[in-house]
Amino acid sequence: MRVVLFVAFWLQVWTAVTGYETGAPAGRCVDMTPGHNVPPQSSPSPYTIIVSNTTFSTNQAIKVRIQGPVYAGLLLQARSGSNTEAVGTWGVPPPNTQHLACSGRDQSAITHSNRNSKNNDTTYTWNPPASLQTAYITATVVSNRTTFWVNLRSAALTGVAGGSNAAADPKMAVTPVLFLTLLMSTVFQ
Ligand SMILES: *[C@@H]1O[C@H](CO)[C@@H](O)[C@H](O)[C@H]1NC(C)=O
Ligand SMILES: *[C@@H]1O[C@H](CO)[C@@H](O)[C@H](O)[C@H]1NC(C)=O
Ligand SMILES: *[C@@H]1O[C@H](CO)[C@@H](O)[C@H](O)[C@H]1NC(C)=O
Repeated sequence: MRVVLFVAFWLQVWTAVTGYETGAPAGRCVDMTPGHNVPPQSSPSPYTIIVSNTTFSTNQAIKVRIQGPVYAGLLLQARSGSNTEAVGTWGVPPPNTQHLACSGRDQSAITHSNRNSKNNDTTYTWNPPASLQTAYITATVVSNRTTFWVNLRSAALTGVAGGSNAAADPKMAVTPVLFLTLLMSTVFQ
C-alpha cells in the first residue's frame, strides 16, 4: 500500500513538473486546460487558428493550421455553438501528434505525441459530420510547460447544402408543391 501511494505521489509530482509529455489525456477534453499547475496566459495569443474554408459540407475536409511561433503541445477540437462536445473527426495526424477520443468518439480530437516542435506548416484535417449548421475549431496551444493559451477559436464555419443546410436543400422546396398537388387531386377527383 505504501509503495503504491509513494509511486502515485511521485507520478503526480512528475506530471506537475513535466506536463503531458505524450499528449493531453481524455480527462482534459471538456475544459481543454492542461494540469500544469500554472494558469493560462492572459496576454493576447501569438497563435491564430487558420482554416482553409469557412464553409463546409459533408465530403469536404477543412485544413487547419496554427499560425505563430513553434509550439510543443496542443489540444484541438471542433465544436458547435456553446456545446462542449467535440464534433466531426480528424484525419491522419501530422508527425508528432496523435488522435484523442473526446466525447466518447475515436478521432474526435488531436493532441501532441511528444514535445518536438510543431510549426505553422503543421496541417490538421477536419472532416465535418453530416447535419451540422455551424462549427468552429478550438485549441489550447502549449508553447512550453509554463506558457500556454487556452480557448483559441477559428473563424465561424458554416455548413452548406450537401452537408446539412435544410433551407438550401432543393428537396425541401419540392415537398409543399407535392403536398398541394396531392390535396388538389383528392379534392377534384
Ligand atoms: C469551400 O467549401 C465549399 C463548400 O463546402 C466548396 O464548394 C468550395 O469549393 C470550397 N472552397 C475551397 C477554396 O476549398
Ligand atoms: C511561422 O513559423 C516560423 C518558425 O517556424 C516563424 O519564424 C514565422 O514567424 C511564423 N510565421 C508566422 C506568420 O507566425
Ligand atoms: C516559455 O515560452 C515563453 C514564450 O513563448 C518564453 O518567454 C519562456 O522563456 C519559455 N520558458 C521556458 C522555461 O522555456
